Amino acid sequence: MSSTSDSELSGHILPELIPQHVAVIMDGNGRWAKSRGLPRLEGHRRGADKARDIVEWASDAGVRQISLYAFSTENWSRPDIEVRGLMALLATLLPKQIPDMNKNGVRLKVLGDVQALPGMARRAVLKACEKTAGNRKIDLVLCLNYGGQQEILAAARKLAISFKQGEISDEALQALSPEDFRNYLWRHDLMPVDLLIRTGGEHRISNFHLWDMAYAELFFDETYWPDYSREDFLRALHVFVSRERRFGKTSEQVTSNKAQSSI
Ligand code: IPE
Ligand code: IPE
Ligand code: MG
Repeated sequence: MSSTSDSELSGHILPELIPQHVAVIMDGNGRWAKSRGLPRLEGHRRGADKARDIVEWASDAGVRQISLYAFSTENWSRPDIEVRGLMALLATLLPKQIPDMNKNGVRLKVLGDVQALPGMARRAVLKACEKTAGNRKIDLVLCLNYGGQQEILAAARKLAISFKQGEISDEALQALSPEDFRNYLWRHDLMPVDLLIRTGGEHRISNFHLWDMAYAELFFDETYWPDYSREDFLRALHVFVSRERRFGKTSEQVTSNKAQSSI
């Protein structure tokens, strides 16, 4: 992470305008490989290299949290050989990344049902989380065996059990706010997603971060994930900055709030 890349990457964006939490649907590995006559797993291998790169670009730009969608709850229905290949890739590549993560201040967190992963992959992930827990420059949230609906359902179930056991009163249940409900999600230490980037040309969410993307800005890129570049990422940041986030208010309210806060 050089200082020249710092200034290049900020690309004249004020630090306070940089999205705090960027979520990425790294899509297009299979099509990238197919278009070159390569096996799908080669696409995933190249995709894994790119995952390492984007963490560096995001960190240089001042992003605090980056979520990477690596394996969805629905991805189990892929051919067995691909699922096993992806898990093996994770188990072999992640341990090699630990020294670099420590050097670059990357704290790994995992989001999803990790317990259901094959032993080798689960152990590699948990070990990397443990070994990088002291880092503070950027959080890398690896979303593995993750599904947004499953996360919300698990939260509702936890809430129902708390109510049944008398830990929550009738009144508290009636008064429960979205912020309170958030505490029942798998991870409540994440920031709301500011910017979602999906590569690979599909325009959908595919069960990613449903709760935390309520007000995310969505950015879709045609590029297949293994071809994604620093310039592509910069473009997404610039588009994000050019958007007006209104959170339900009118444009005039947002403009006058901004003017007041800069006095
Ligand atoms: C995304 O790439 C990676 C994972 C889902 C693991 P794909 O494998 O979905 O690539 P395409 O969409 O088939 O090209
Ligand atoms: C979403 O991509 C999941 C990941 C990138 C891990 P998919 O390729 O699985 O999504 P769909 O099936 O095209 O919606
Ligand atoms: Mg895909």
